[in-house]
Parts: sequence; C-alpha cells; structure tokens
Amino acid sequence: MAGGAFDLLITGAHLVTMAGGESGGTIRDGALAISGGRIAWAGPRAAFPRDARATRTVDAGGRWLTPGLVDCHTHLVYAGNRAHEFAARLEGATYADIAKAGGGIHATVRATRAATDDELAAASYPRLAALAAEGISTVEIKSGYGLATAAEVRQLRTARRIGAEAGVDVRTTLLAAHAVPPEFAGRADDYVDLVCQETIPAVAREGLADAVDAFCETIGFTPEQTRRVFAAARANGLRVKLHADQLSDTGGAALAAEFNALSADHLEYANAAGVAALARAGTVAVLLPGAFYALSETQLPPVAAMRAHGVRMAVATDCNPGTSPVTSLLLMLNMACTLFRLTPAEAIAGVTVHAARALGLADRGMLAPAQRADLALWDIAEPAELAYRMGANPCVGIVRGGDVIQWPMA
Ligand code: NIG
Ligand code: FE
Repeated sequence: MAGGAFDLLITGAHLVTMAGGESGGTIRDGALAISGGRIAWAGPRAAFPRDARATRTVDAGGRWLTPGLVDCHTHLVYAGNRAHEFAARLEGATYADIAKAGGGIHATVRATRAATDDELAAASYPRLAALAAEGISTVEIKSGYGLATAAEVRQLRTARRIGAEAGVDVRTTLLAAHAVPPEFAGRADDYVDLVCQETIPAVAREGLADAVDAFCETIGFTPEQTRRVFAAARANGLRVKLHADQLSDTGGAALAAEFNALSADHLEYANAAGVAALARAGTVAVLLPGAFYALSETQLPPVAAMRAHGVRMAVATDCNPGTSPVTSLLLMLNMACTLFRLTPAEAIAGVTVHAARALGLADRGMLAPAQRADLALWDIAEPAELAYRMGANPCVGIVRGGDVIQWPMA
C-alpha cells in the first residue's frame, strides 16, 4: 500500500504473529497497519514503507501485540450455578454419580429453562465480559441447557445477543445432544429423533448455529446416536464438533474424524488410532484443562501422540457451571502447560491460530495481511509470560475489527 493511507498504524510493538502455525514467529520492534478492519501490513518497523501514511497512529510503548484471542469451546449461556456439586465432589461423589442422580447438566437445564430471556442474558453477560477483558475477540458458545427445540433456539439467540452487546464475535454451536431431557427419560433414541428431525433443521433454517456438537459418552449419547446427529447436521449443511473421550474411551476421536469434524474436544481417553485419525482428517484437538482440573481427572490427554502426528492443538475454557466454572483463558494457558505439558508457544498457538481453525475460521488468529484486525496488547516482557502468570490480566489494549476499544495512555 505504498503511497496509500492506512486507517491505523501501530508502532512500538513486538509482534507475536503466529504466521507459520505453532512455530509462531515473533517480530521485535514491529509495526502493524490496518485498513478496512483488516490487517494490511505487519513486519519490522524498519521495513515499513517510508512513503506510507496513516489516518491515525498509536504507539505500543514496547509492549507485545498478539492476535485477538479465541476461546473456541464454552457453554457460558446458562442460569444458576452448581457450587453444591463442587462441595459434593469434594466429599467423594463423581461427576457421573451426580448426573445419574438428576444433578449435573439436568440441574442447569432446570435453572436455564426457568430464567426469563433477560435473566438468562444478564446471568451470562459477565462471563463473556470477563473473557473479553482478557483480549478475547472471538468466543464459541454452545447451547445444551435447553434440550427442547425452542429452549435451544433461545440459548443460541441469547449467545448472539450478548455477543453483540459485548462487541465480541460469538460463534454458536447447537449442542442439543448434551443430555436426554426429563421428558424423554429412558427414550434417548426418541430424543435423538427429535434433535435430528426438528431441532437441527429449525436451527439451520434460522441460521442460528455455526456448527453442531454432541456429548458422546457413557452418561451422554452412544457413538451410534452421535452418528445420527452428525448425519442430520451434514444433511442440513452444518459442520460438526464433538465432546469426545472425556470420561472414557468411546472411540470418539475416530468418530469425529470420520465426520471430518472441525474439532474433537477433551480427549483425555482418546486412543492411538483416534489420534492418528484426527491427524488424517485435519480435525483440531481442543484441550480443556479446566475440566480436567475441576474433575480431579488423572488421565492425561495423549499430547505426545498428538504432537507426533502433527494434530493441531487448541486450548479453551470450557466455561460451564459443572466441570469448568472458568472465565479466564489465560489461566487455561497456564494449566495447559503445567498439567498437559504444552510449551508456552504451543499454548499460545492453541488460543489463537488453532482455536480459530477449531471454529473453521481462517480469517483470524495470526498477525498477517488480510486477517481480521482483532488484536490484544500485553504488558509483558516476553510471550511466555502469558502462560506463566496465574490470575493476572496483563491485557492493556484491545482492537476489534480495526476499532481501538482500549489502549494504554503511554
Ligand atoms: O464440557 N461434558 C459435557 N459437557 C460439559 C459439562 C457440562 C455440565 O456439566 O454442565 C463439559 O465438560
Ligand atoms: Fe464442554
């Protein structure tokens, strides 16, 4: 764009470009220019075209600039909380025990169904705002606490509504196959029929979901039921994602790969063939250390095998009231490193470029020309500090779609 005018020029920033995947790529003393809401130029300051002009220039004061972060797996639209289940688990109850006794997901379904639209939005908004304050510009939000067509639709609409209110790009996922609702107790297959014949077509028709997910698990849906849900998603033109092999090995990773899923998530119990299948399908493995931690899980996801096969690994909060009451993606960076032994560079790739791919989005997650100008500015001395700190939020600047939302004074 030599000779032209950029909308915004950022100088004095070190750049975590992520161009080139998890090998990352950092540029010290960089500059980044934006036009029309997209990154137009990123590189060393010294290489910035001399004759280029910008309508506005801001200085980053030697801080680090990353792509806006992406939280690619949340269930953050819900009402109520499950602190009493936390207490029960500390007394020895398991997540599965609580679910079988009518608690767990069912407890949140009751609270969510009972909330008015405004109550549901008001309860959920602060969780989205907490993520946004950490430099997250794209958040995936699943339904799954309605478990009836109208109630699932309402959750998806609420997700989009609070996204618009918070200025965050919300991607919605239909998770109607999260649990069997009380109306269908003992008739899981009939509920799956409803999901396939009514819920998925309704949501697809209204354009309310970007993908379809399912909970494939002994306390969720069988692989056969999951296949039916995925076939219906495909028939309605929707990509799929899967809660796979979280509590047991049900062959979920291979099943996700079979349907060319965008992502397979959790994966603590995934087997070797499943990991190889993910690699072949290009399905992203989404690691959720918050759920691993909150459930005192001891089975580690097969990270070494994923690495060996070149499976892309994303990291997300899984923000939900049961297994991961987490509203900090930065804390998940720390836990992904400490608990799962990701390198800080892998963890950062996991909340930028790979998280975007887990949502099927190629237009964000890197600091490179033509990418959306979603940026986060950090008061840190080196990128690894993002994963090293616990409970700190060094995000001091936010740019979304080229608009400066927040910027430090000096
Ligand atoms: O990702 N495992 C299923 N779904 C959620 C938990 C939902 C809940 O307990 O409310 C998860 O862990
Ligand atoms: Fe989840």
